[in-house]
Amino acid sequence: MIFRQLFEPLSSTYTYLLGCETTGQALLIDPVVNSLERDLAELQRLGLTLACTLDTHVHADHITGALHLKQRVGSRIAAAAADRLPCADIGLEDGVPLVVGSLNVRPLHTPGHTDHHLAFVVGERVFTGDALLIDGCGRTDFQNGSAADLYRSVNGRLFTLPDEQLVYPGHDYQGRHVSSIGQEKARNPRLGQGRTQAEFEAIMAALNLPYPKFIDHAVPGNRACGVCPDDLPEQLQAYCGRMTESPQG
Ligand SMILES: [Fe+2]
Repeated sequence: MIFRQLFEPLSSTYTYLLGCETTGQALLIDPVVNSLERDLAELQRLGLTLACTLDTHVHADHITGALHLKQRVGSRIAAAAADRLPCADIGLEDGVPLVVGSLNVRPLHTPGHTDHHLAFVVGERVFTGDALLIDGCGRTDFQNGSAADLYRSVNGRLFTLPDEQLVYPGHDYQGRHVSSIGQEKARNPRLGQGRTQAEFEAIMAALNLPYPKFIDHAVPGNRACGVCPDDLPEQLQAYCGRMTESPQG
């Protein structure tokens, strides 16, 4: 498998490029709209054709590149069937593999960050989206999130994968790239170290995180598979790859 981990600094999002060496077909997990040109250049450099994009969930902190990539190179859009996005070409369901050339992607329903969040198991790797981050996890206070659900998703599903399974998160804010199920079970301060559900719920309830600055634009944009709103405030234009002009003189 051809594999690249790509980083989008504005929202600290990881996009993953997976390519089939036999057919030259590729997929992208969680592409970001403002990094469209980088993703297309990387595909071209590797001699790959983008067959499909997959999103782990309806994001609140960035806008997916799915629709623009489809318009540019004809890739199909895959998203959780349960999200019922009219713009999706493929509805992903728990345990039903998506096959692209020699790539086999197994979705795992892992609610808690959002209600329909999916993680993706591909060979020795698991792409955990915002369900499980390195030494952390996604927030659970918006989009039908639930700390109780997230605890069950991580303990009941992700932590039952082999300890050697490599964990590739949806974000990292401190320059970490990869972990493993065994390492997260042993070290994750929120969900590992044998934390109980009550302990985890108390940790999440005490976070007191600010209201997400992009959510009101990102969620409708992502429910349309990646439409940038026209009325974005100037300080958010960069999220759509738009450069604001600096005043002359
Ligand atoms: Fe998210």
